[in-house]
Amino acid sequence: MANQNGNPEALCDLLGVAHPVIQAGMVWCTGADLVVAVGRAGGLGTLGAGSMYPEELDAEIQKVRANWDGPFAVNVPLLYPAVEEHMETIRRHKVPVVFTSAGSPRKWTDFLKSAGAVVVHVVSSAAFAKKSEDAGVDAVVAEGFEAGGHNGREETTTLCLVPEVVDAVRIPVIAAGGFYDARTMLAAFALGASGVQMGSRFVMTQENPAHVAFKQRIADAGAGETRLMLKDITPVRLLRGPEGSFYDRVASAESAGDDVQALRVLLGRGRAKLGMREGDLLEGELEIGQVSALLNDWPKAGDLMGEILGDYRAFGTAKMAPGFCWKALM
Ligand SMILES: Cc1cc2nc3c(=O)[nH]c(=O)nc-3n(C[C@H](O)[C@H](O)[C@H](O)COP(=O)(O)O)c2cc1C
Repeated sequence: MANQNGNPEALCDLLGVAHPVIQAGMVWCTGADLVVAVGRAGGLGTLGAGSMYPEELDAEIQKVRANWDGPFAVNVPLLYPAVEEHMETIRRHKVPVVFTSAGSPRKWTDFLKSAGAVVVHVVSSAAFAKKSEDAGVDAVVAEGFEAGGHNGREETTTLCLVPEVVDAVRIPVIAAGGFYDARTMLAAFALGASGVQMGSRFVMTQENPAHVAFKQRIADAGAGETRLMLKDITPVRLLRGPEGSFYDRVASAESAGDDVQALRVLLGRGRAKLGMREGDLLEGELEIGQVSALLNDWPKAGDLMGEILGDYRAFGTAKMAPGFCWKALM
C-alpha cells in the first residue's frame, strides 16, 4: 500500500467528508445535534457511545439519520461493558465510520469492516499504531498527553507523538490533543498528519449537551488548571473545581500515596455525568484538555468550523508553503 500520510485529501476520501476535521467522540459531551451541525459544515461528527445505554445509542443514530444524510461516526471505548450490544447497533444501522479506543484493535476490526464501516483506532504510542495497522484498521488517531479525557500512561505529547506515529505506519494519521484553531491545525499537517480530531474545542459549542456550568468553568480556566490524574486506575485529564472539590481530594490522595483501592472508593460511580452533564463542579469529574486555557466562548459548531477553515484559508495566502494548500482545506 502506498504511504497515505500527510495527505488530507486521501483521508477525506476515506471518511467521505469535505474537510479533514473530526469532532471527537466524548463521554457525556456529544449528541445528534452536534454531529449533524459538524457534518453539515463539512467535518465528521462523532457520537460518543461510551456514556450511552444501548437504546440511547440506537435513538441518537436514528436522530442523526433523520436530519443528515452524510457521513458520521460512532466512538466506542472497548472497555464499555455492553460493547457487544453497541457493535450490533452499529452493524444494524450501517454506521459509516467507527472510532475504537481503550482496548485492542484486534477484537472488533474484522467485524466492523465486514459490516462496511471504516475503522479508526485511537493510540498514544507508535508501537500501538503499528499493532493497529497490522490489525487492519483504516487510520489511527495519535492522541497526545495534552488531550482531554482518558489518556495514555506514556505521557507523550502531541508534538513528539504525531511524527513518531507518522513514521511508523502507512495508513493515515489523525492528530489529536491540543488542536482548536487554524494555526494548531496547520501545525498538525506540518507534522505529517492527514487530519485533526478536536475534543475540548467541540465541548465548547452551543449544540454540545455538556452543562452550561461546566462550559463556563472551562471558559474561566487558565493555564495549568488541568492535570492527568488517577493514573493507577485509568489515567484521565481533569480540570480543577472549586476549593475542596473532587479534583482537590484526588490530588491530596495521590500525593499522600493512597493505594488503588482507596482511590477506587474515592472515585465511586457516576462522577463524570455529575460533573459534565449535570454541572456539579464540586462533586463531579470535569474532563477537558490542556487547551481549555485557550477556550473562552461556545459558538455554534457550524460557525466554529467556518471560522477555523476561513482562518486556515487566510493562512494559505499569507503564511503557508504551497504544500499546505490542499483542496480539502481551500
Ligand atoms: C469530555 C471528554 C470526553 C472524552 N471521551 C472520550 C471517549 O469516550 N472516547 C475516546 O476515545 N476519547 C474520548 N475523549 C478524547 C477525545 O476523543 C479527543 O481525542 C481529545 O479530546 C482530543 O484532545 P483535545 O481535548 O485537546 O481536543 C474525550 C475527551 C473529552 C474532553
